[in-house]
Amino acid sequence: MDEKLAEVRERLLKLSEAAEADGEPLRWFEELYGGANRDSDEIPWARMEPHPKMVEWVARQPSVRGRALVVGCGLGDDAEWLSGVGFEVVAFDISKSSIRWCRERFPKSDVEYITANLLAPPEDWLNNFDLVVEIHILQAIPDSIRNLAAECIRSFLNDSGHVLCIGRLLGDRFLDEPPPPWPLSRTWLEGRFEGLTMINFTNFVNEESPEVDRYIASWRTTKA
Ligand SMILES: C[S@@+](CC[C@H](N)C(=O)[O-])C[C@H]1O[C@@H](n2cnc3c(N)ncnc32)[C@H](O)[C@@H]1O
Repeated sequence: MDEKLAEVRERLLKLSEAAEADGEPLRWFEELYGGANRDSDEIPWARMEPHPKMVEWVARQPSVRGRALVVGCGLGDDAEWLSGVGFEVVAFDISKSSIRWCRERFPKSDVEYITANLLAPPEDWLNNFDLVVEIHILQAIPDSIRNLAAECIRSFLNDSGHVLCIGRLLGDRFLDEPPPPWPLSRTWLEGRFEGLTMINFTNFVNEESPEVDRYIASWRTTKA
């Protein structure tokens, strides 16, 4: 880990520990974005480009188009890419600073950027999306509220919708790093999203962090 990333990670851990101790485990996201002064190096997950595995997945699913919801959109690159390939995109994040940052980065965007909490979503999102994308969100949410978060994600799908999840996989390799994030087990993932059929589950690693096991998985609404 380079020096800058180690410093950012240390700050993140302090913020998340304090938030957890105060009983507000999701508070630190806003503190991190708000304190970054628009410097993306202060946001350890900011790729500043769409996730390549999402791009690959969408390219292989030409029949999946329509309305997309990007959960925990961060700095907006995944949402912008989906909009560019023709989706009508709503992207949201619990952090109002991240949403302001997205709007500043993409002032002419067709994406609707909204500050919202996955655990208390607007009612009109229910059953309203063809594709829901979750990249590194469930793994960033503490265990105590993760099942609820997954239920909320599932509730956004319409009758022919898909969910795409990308994250860290709990593998056999021991990684000496305190959470967050919490790597997710395949068993836990397979038990999510009642009424959906899993259509793929693939393990992968990134070149820049080959020590971390990752997964991409997708589900679709089960036709009666
Ligand atoms: C690890 S980051 C990933 C961001 C982005 N998806 C990416 O891959 O770059 C987790 C994101 O989820 C957001 N988030 C966490 N809990 C959330 C919630 N309950 N509702 C909405 N967004 C949430 C955070 O603010 C943060 O932007």
